[in-house]
Amino acid sequence: MQADKLKKYRPYPQVQLSDRTWPDKRITTAPGWCSVDLRDGNQALIQPMNLEEKIEMFRLLTDIGFKEIEVGFPSASKVEYDFTRVLIDRNLIPEDVTIQALTQAREPLIRKTFQAFKGAKQGIVHLYNSTSTLQRDVVFKMSRKEIIELGVQGARVIREEADRFDGDIRYEYSPESFTGTELDFALEICEAVMDVWEPTPARPVVINLPSTVEMATPNVYADQIEWFIRNMKNRDCALISLHAHNDRGTAVAATELALMAGADRVEGTLFGNGERTGNVDLMTLALNMFTQGIDPELDFSNINRVVNVYERCTKLSVHPRHPYAGELVYTAFSGSHQDAISKGMDAVQQDGVWAVPYLPIDPEDVGRSYESIIRINSQSGKGGAAYIMDREFGYKLPREMRPGFGRIIQQETDKVGDELPSTAVYKAFEREYLLAAGCYQLKTFNVLKRHMDQHQDLSVADVEAVVYVDGREKALQASGNGPLDAFCTALKEDAGLDFTLHAYHEHALTKGSSSKAVSYIEVLDSKGEGWWGAGVDTDIIISSIKGLLSALNRMCVGK
Ligand code: KIV
Ligand code: ZN
Repeated sequence: MQADKLKKYRPYPQVQLSDRTWPDKRITTAPGWCSVDLRDGNQALIQPMNLEEKIEMFRLLTDIGFKEIEVGFPSASKVEYDFTRVLIDRNLIPEDVTIQALTQAREPLIRKTFQAFKGAKQGIVHLYNSTSTLQRDVVFKMSRKEIIELGVQGARVIREEADRFDGDIRYEYSPESFTGTELDFALEICEAVMDVWEPTPARPVVINLPSTVEMATPNVYADQIEWFIRNMKNRDCALISLHAHNDRGTAVAATELALMAGADRVEGTLFGNGERTGNVDLMTLALNMFTQGIDPELDFSNINRVVNVYERCTKLSVHPRHPYAGELVYTAFSGSHQDAISKGMDAVQQDGVWAVPYLPIDPEDVGRSYESIIRINSQSGKGGAAYIMDREFGYKLPREMRPGFGRIIQQETDKVGDELPSTAVYKAFEREYLLAAGCYQLKTFNVLKRHMDQHQDLSVADVEAVVYVDGREKALQASGNGPLDAFCTALKEDAGLDFTLHAYHEHALTKGSSSKAVSYIEVLDSKGEGWWGAGVDTDIIISSIKGLLSALNRMCVGK
């Protein structure tokens, strides 16, 4: 960046509030939510939504649980007027949902807004005018007094219309560009408007304090909200509403801190759609609360539906790394992350508390699956491959077997140079461990007899088998402490193999065919090097015999 360009910019002034209290506060309940997707969001689209798309979006919003929805700016656009009419005339507004319409402080526009609302059981009329120093000086060339007069005049017309409206009208006022407005002036104009509307604690007005352009760090917005709340009269007659835009990328943080500062209500959009960098993302805010154990009173349990409807209606796409909803947010590529997630998931299954490294939310709570959590690419390690084998195929690889399998998968990903689907992980396991080809192949295996050795207090098994050794049939027979031990003895004594059985694990396979078992066997060669194999069969003994031969085959071909 060129240093001389810095001279163009000025730091944003601090709010004088040394005894601020919000840093010690916490968010403990959901605020009132108001979706402005159909107004602020829609007005920022390259291709605004058509009627059908607006209806689909409205349905999505009510299904999510929004009770207040700004449906448009009906006096400014025919489409928005018509849409408001369709909602009312076709009776599409659920009983417990209130539609909201934006209007400037101009009499004809206000009257048109009320016409658009005709027949609605309830509505919020949202009045705004710009109050910032910059807009007063540069755009409107009006004094503070004139700006107040504009707002107050608008409020009067609204009150007059509302008094004769056949339905319940609530009021909202926004000093637009609040964050560019001197605080004392913002307060003065809001109180002047409130004087006209005469709210009561039972029928409060909404005072919406927009960060129309985000100009400072989030703590400054919180200071402004705390200052406003502390200094306003009739606090109990107003719901303080937030409406943060995201110019600095911190709208979510600003809104969270401002809620800590005492605000009651939040306006925003799904995925932060809206002018320029957008509005605050309501889904992120709600799910942030959810992950703290706070009921957000919005339902994002089917996040894929939200993504699909949003993408279809707005023709925008959700970024793959968008919090909670992006395609890649429940995916870990790095081996150490995969390993930690895998261990965390096992721990959760034991105590039920969600504490999984790298995953602030259980993907299942938003309708995403565990299967999509771990993907295998060249940065993945043993943990990821073992995790896939466990979660998707039901194989619980012994810990000591994982590094070797991790190396095999690493080679595989290096070869394809791309992400590995889980089926490819399984295929590699099957090729390397289950069907390991080499010098030995089982033809038949029988347990002849099992009995107790009374001297040693051990069970003894007599077995016979026919094995192909380097293509030649070899009949074997031996006794041992169980069939596997007997078979090892037979291989050593009758076929002259040199190895030690070092590890044996088995479990039932619960995925796929439920009646099978898998055995994992490690043998040590004459130099003490370990070789793993695995076998699957409906008979647990045969699965161990197969596993042993796989391990021996890998030993014999040296891989
Ligand atoms: O961002 C803004 O200030 C607005 C107002 C109209 C509330 O959208
Ligand atoms: Zn806005």
